[in-house]
Amino acid sequence: MLKAVILIGGPSKGTRFRPLSLDIPKPLFPIAGLPMIEHHIKACLNIKNLNEILIIGSYNASELQSFVKEMTDSYGISIRYLQELTALGTAGGIYHFRAEIRAGDPDAFFIMNGDVCANFPLSEMLEMHIKTSAVLTVMATEATRQQSLNYGCIVPSKEDCRQVVHYVEKPSTFVSTLINCGVYLASLDIFQFMADVFDARHKQDKSMLMNGNGKDPAYISLEQDILTRLSETGKFCVFQTSNWWSQVKTPGAAIYANRHHLAVYRSKESERLLPPVSGQCQIIGNVFIDASAVIHPTATLGPNVSIGPNVRLGAGVRIRESIVLANSQIQSHSMVLHSIIGRGSVVGEWARVEGTPCDPDPDKPFAKKENPPLFNVNGKLNPSISILGESVTLAAERILLNSIVLPYKQLTRDLRNEIIL
Ligand code: GDD
Ligand code: GTP
Repeated sequence: MLKAVILIGGPSKGTRFRPLSLDIPKPLFPIAGLPMIEHHIKACLNIKNLNEILIIGSYNASELQSFVKEMTDSYGISIRYLQELTALGTAGGIYHFRAEIRAGDPDAFFIMNGDVCANFPLSEMLEMHIKTSAVLTVMATEATRQQSLNYGCIVPSKEDCRQVVHYVEKPSTFVSTLINCGVYLASLDIFQFMADVFDARHKQDKSMLMNGNGKDPAYISLEQDILTRLSETGKFCVFQTSNWWSQVKTPGAAIYANRHHLAVYRSKESERLLPPVSGQCQIIGNVFIDASAVIHPTATLGPNVSIGPNVRLGAGVRIRESIVLANSQIQSHSMVLHSIIGRGSVVGEWARVEGTPCDPDPDKPFAKKENPPLFNVNGKLNPSISILGESVTLAAERILLNSIVLPYKQLTRDLRNEIIL
């Protein structure tokens, strides 16, 4: 029997995802019509014998309750949310809830970072994990030399490229172009490594008060405290994939992930891309339209567009490379490009909302999507996708370019490279 753990962090994480994470926890943000971590759940459902998924994070349980119920009802396997009272790190939560993970004596369990998107090759990874009898197998992919510094870097053995001999988390100088994808498969022996770190920490910190860096004494980082040690044991293996994979740290990355999830639908579940009866408009490339959306037949959508529930699109509307969230309205003859339209927002007639894509450099093999900071060194906004937060209204005939608008704003003038707080 197998299980899976999805790590979703908490409200203090996902800051770069604002303002989209202000009204919805980032792990539930819809990409290609499904909450980000539903893609993880669907990948797990393809694994035979995987019969429980535990979502671990520090969001208030009430924020995840209806999602968890909906997932359990739709997929018929046990899916539970386990709440950390404070952030315990990528291994601290797993160690804290070890009894729940061990229950039923699974042979192994997947650990998946909630903020990655991929065409997850879980069965292949499982096959290799069984062959190598590793304590932990990490999924890895190639990155450029420069980008590798932002990820966990893995050095495989020269004799057996499956064995990890060295691991450094976000090194300051180059270590390896093979990077950690934030997806692991662990046997139950991993808990002994966590127990050693936990016990050593508690000896140092007998008072059980917050330790020096303000973190809970039960805080354990999987990457820094466990993977580095594991690489010295010969029981740490790497599964390399060339499948599409990306982190989702910024709203721009959500547009990029949307495009790739839609492409995965095209190859595996093309029925998801069929427009509902009410969506008989012109469609270019891969477009997901929720069945409850109402779309004028003269609208043109695509490529790479996701339209959420109860969205209304007027006559002549044009949308490309964008996500339109639930209950929003794009009125007649308006255009939306490289943008995210928040829930319940209204774009007036003949308006234009446009952002700048920041895709990986197509000329560099293995380049990943960059996550540039909001502002450049001169204090100016870096060009990025445009975002309307929840319930924003953009008046008719206005242009909004490379701008980010926080929730509940009424915009009556044109905006270029601005943040509206
Ligand atoms: N439950 C829980 N508790 N989850 C957490 C916590 C915590 O205290 N802290 C982080 N997470 C979750 C995040 O929500 C995310 O899904 C994942 O754990 C990793 O988040 P970060 O700690 O922010 O790490 P990172 O994304 O910068 O880097 C990690 O992922 C990269 C791949 O995306 C590392 O594993 C890197 O080595 C790796 O390359
Ligand atoms: P390519 O990028 O080469 O595909 O150029 P294109 O000229 O086909 O333009 P694009 O794909 O951006 O636009 C496709 C459709 O949207 C065309 O029918 C345009 O007339 C229409 N369109 C372009 N700009 C606007 C606009 O501001 N408002 C509206 N309503 N439609 C627009």
